[in-house]
Amino acid sequence: MKIIKSPQQMQSACLTLKKKGRTIGFVPTMGALHEGHLSLIRKARQENDIVAVSIFVNPRQFGPQEDLKKYPRPLARDLALCKKCGVDLVFNPGVNGFYPRDFKTNVYVEGLSQQLCGASRPEHFRGVTTVVAKLFNLAQPDCAYFGQKDAQQAVIVKRMAEDLNFPVKIKVLPIVRQKDGLAMSSRNIYLNKTQRQDALVLSKALGLARLLIRHGQKDSAKIIAKMRALIVKNKSAKIDYLAIVDLVNLNPVKKVTRNCLIALAVKIGKTRLIDNTII
Ligand code: PAJ
Repeated sequence: MKIIKSPQQMQSACLTLKKKGRTIGFVPTMGALHEGHLSLIRKARQENDIVAVSIFVNPRQFGPQEDLKKYPRPLARDLALCKKCGVDLVFNPGVNGFYPRDFKTNVYVEGLSQQLCGASRPEHFRGVTTVVAKLFNLAQPDCAYFGQKDAQQAVIVKRMAEDLNFPVKIKVLPIVRQKDGLAMSSRNIYLNKTQRQDALVLSKALGLARLLIRHGQKDSAKIIAKMRALIVKNKSAKIDYLAIVDLVNLNPVKKVTRNCLIALAVKIGKTRLIDNTII
């Protein structure tokens, strides 16, 4: 397994592999790898000649009050996990090497970046699309793997790749959960024991929504009201948003049909968690 720090070296290594006719599967991450990330890496391993993983805590997607400084960075452990999963290339740049001082370019997907998580994190998706565009230019992937966990991110990255003609197929894989339903996240380590228990309210609210829909409820407002009532019972939970939207434009829908996304963001103490389910 090769570990590459410089963007130029990453690009030339990947261009050389492409010239030899190798297919590249790429998994962008911010590290602190868990089973969610590993599911993407394993899929990439099955489907490509070469697997490239990036580990980079991208400062441009964190707001000024967010957790950039304390975001976990267990690099040695991450590298061992990558090696175990058969990764060929790990790209792990330093911030200054990746964003030189005169870096001035942004990639921004209009509209889609402002809804849901974008409403409370206005700069976030601009940071994501900028870093992902740059990573795609470096890694030259045939396929790139993203998690349904970050549903809005996946929709936005797909839009960007299509709009800007990146020659990459975007694959979106299901949410990996703990046994009790909590969606795996690098941020779960911020939760103490009680908060870890409280955090189950996200997947429980989604479970309730699915149950109501199965019993014939189609009215989004009514479903959201029931979800809200369940969540607010929990004293440490503070709702950022609860939404039922269409899967293409992320616009709210009044009636639940096929291809809807039920998404929520809830703060448990200081930790903001997201989860979702597709109907
Ligand atoms: P990160 O949060 O490290 O996630 C990397 C990838 O793993 C994302 O595509 C995310 O959706 C996926 N993932 C996270 N938790 C998951 C889970 N429980 N089940 C399945 N997939 C899961 O997302 C980012 O990093 C960054 O925004 C990035 C795309 C790397 C750009 O900086």
